[in-house]
Amino acid sequence: MDTMLIKSGAQLHGTVETSGAKNAALPILFSTLLAEGEHQFDNVPVLKDIESTANLLESLGCTSQRSGHTFKVQVTKLKSFEAHYDLVRKMRASILCLGPILAKYGEAVVSLPGGCAIGTRPIDLHLDAMKAMGAEIQLKDGYVLAKAKKLKGTTIFFEKTTVGGTENLLMAATLAEGTTTIENAAKEPEIVDLANYLIKMGAKISGHGTSIIKIEGVQKLSPAKHAIMADRIEAGTLLIAGAITGGDVTVTKCQPHDLDALINKMRESGFKIDIKENSMRVHPLSSWDGVDVTTAPHPLFPTDLQAQFMALMTVAKGASVVTETVFENRFMHVTELMRLGADITPKSQVAVVRGKPGGLSAAPVMATDLRASASLVLAGLVAKGETQVSRIYHLDRGYEGLESKLSKLGAKVKRAQ
Ligand code: UD1
Repeated sequence: MDTMLIKSGAQLHGTVETSGAKNAALPILFSTLLAEGEHQFDNVPVLKDIESTANLLESLGCTSQRSGHTFKVQVTKLKSFEAHYDLVRKMRASILCLGPILAKYGEAVVSLPGGCAIGTRPIDLHLDAMKAMGAEIQLKDGYVLAKAKKLKGTTIFFEKTTVGGTENLLMAATLAEGTTTIENAAKEPEIVDLANYLIKMGAKISGHGTSIIKIEGVQKLSPAKHAIMADRIEAGTLLIAGAITGGDVTVTKCQPHDLDALINKMRESGFKIDIKENSMRVHPLSSWDGVDVTTAPHPLFPTDLQAQFMALMTVAKGASVVTETVFENRFMHVTELMRLGADITPKSQVAVVRGKPGGLSAAPVMATDLRASASLVLAGLVAKGETQVSRIYHLDRGYEGLESKLSKLGAKVKRAQ
């Protein structure tokens, strides 16, 4: 199993490019199931989760090819409507094939994804929404069995903001009869990217990016071409990597506006950050203040940057209170950061971090999920000595070439078996 070895001491300097967004690419690749023919995407990151998606699409009867960051999917009439447990358990986002298959073929069988390291993550809201559109849903032997001759447009109010639920419903509603209105829809930029691709395919959608999305069902969609948006979470992680080392790093090919909540918090902490249309630069700083942060749906502070921001706070001057409101169990990195010497008191969904500038020292640590792994790598950049992060396969699910990007900025990072 691969581990990552990180030697402290390097101040990162230079320019680094952002890759395409995993969380936009996944739903968009599943949306291809809505239209037969060849779909073409650019800026698709090379990641394990994309591979898992391609495997799932292939198991349904599609084919795909990658050439660099260009990814093509050929969709013919599906030979199977079943997403098998072996494929779904590798990636929870596989549940996103439910909406498209059900809408296009009138039936779908999708394994229940089960829990994961960051919480139980149920899919009840996805299923309730499909039911409200007329689907018959049964849970049997660990699978969701969904049937609907034709989904019918209606108004769906999500009692909790759900990114995946909004995406599943958005896709399903494109081929439904009549108009669907999603209230309390998630506003994440990845949902806007998905809606933009669906519109290119012929869908009639308005309000994406706001909390009320309207979808007027159409008879048929056709394949199109699309470039996947930049990965805001990767861009934010790289910005924090520059910041935590007191370095001078410019992150390019990104949309800084999608990261306003992070940038505001970093500025509050003392960092000088320049913003241009497609790039952002963090200036060197030798000491920064602890600031409080609370995660919440977009445009507020992203839960996917909570662990990385906490790493930054462990070496801040003063204390900070980190509150996680999106997932019930997203502090798995806390005990690992404590192994590096961080002073953190977690209690339920609140963690008090007492910053210790220069106070971390290397230790072997274990990655528990994707973003937790990133936070350990960031802490490793400043923990005196050589930090070994094991179970690094989590990183490969969501960060394209992180060690080579950090190395180019001057970090002493390498992979080992
Ligand atoms: C997506 C992202 C993930 C991010 C999360 C929140 C992808 C592939 N993943 O995950 O990186 O951390 O959004 O920004 O895009 N919930 C329910 N019932 C449901 C659905 C969700 O209770 O039917 C709860 C979840 O357990 C969680 C909260 O709602 O507590 C938000 O989950 P959701 O927004 O759906 O996250 P994902 O789409 O799984």
